Amino acid sequence: MATRIDKLVKSYVLKSETVHALRGVSFDVPEGDYVAIMGPSGSGKSTLLNMLGCLDQPTSGSLFLGDDNISLMTDDELAEIRSRRVGFVFQSYNLIQQLTVVENIQVPLYYQGRLGAKEYARAVALAEQVGLGDRLGHRPNQLSGGQQQRVAIARSLVNDPYFILADEPTGNLDSVTTDEILELFDRLNGEGRTIILVTHEDDVAERARRIVRLKDGSLYSDESVSEEQRAAARLLQHEAAIAVKEKQGLAE
Ligand SMILES: Nc1ncnc2c1ncn2[C@@H]1O[C@H](COP(=O)(O)OP(=O)(O)OP(=O)(O)O)[C@@H](O)[C@H]1O
Ligand SMILES: [Mg+2]
Repeated sequence: MATRIDKLVKSYVLKSETVHALRGVSFDVPEGDYVAIMGPSGSGKSTLLNMLGCLDQPTSGSLFLGDDNISLMTDDELAEIRSRRVGFVFQSYNLIQQLTVVENIQVPLYYQGRLGAKEYARAVALAEQVGLGDRLGHRPNQLSGGQQQRVAIARSLVNDPYFILADEPTGNLDSVTTDEILELFDRLNGEGRTIILVTHEDDVAERARRIVRLKDGSLYSDESVSEEQRAAARLLQHEAAIAVKEKQGLAE
């Protein structure tokens, strides 16, 4: 199920001016790809991600998720496809504090009115998949940042989405936890999940298969990352994480 972005334009009309957030961006994302979107602040990264996530519609151009042209959909159709087929991961996790790990993972199903034994079992399986099988009843404030982000990733998978959309998923995390989250993304991508993430960090972007750069609302470059480059970035992050862990071990 490929995604096709074609001459995508998004303008925000404000009182005194029009902001051109995206000025005709085109690229495809084949199923199973892992794309890092980069670019300076204000270049349109979040705007693009929001449209991929069916949170907003383009001013012009088209956006196909498989055969569905989301630019032609009504708000209701958009909400439907969003709740069923899009998985979001945010920098600030966006978990519900009153709910446990397993309940948070089920939230997207709740909005679809689907909550039964089967859904509960699926949430537990996902918690186990992200390494939180022993934290099912914990609440977000009883978890580390990395654990909270893993809950968010499990939640993003619960509706078996077209893709995982992540806006700065490691922005709040230290190097050890960033390494863990990127390992998890590697594994999910290895299992065939399509991942599109926004990042400001070169070493995070180099873990992806491809780097798309935006500048002033336009596509600036679109380059694949070689397997050697990916492996080097992986090794570097891994070593940095181990060094930090050893230092913490000494300090304790
Ligand atoms: N709802 C909105 N109304 C008006 N202008 C907006 C709106 N959302 C975004 N913009 C403008 O569109 C442009 C692109 O914003 P966007 O949030 O996509 O940037 P970004 O690349 O994600 O930046 P950052 O790295 O800072 O998160 C900016 O100039 C921003 O001010
Ligand atoms: Mg942004």
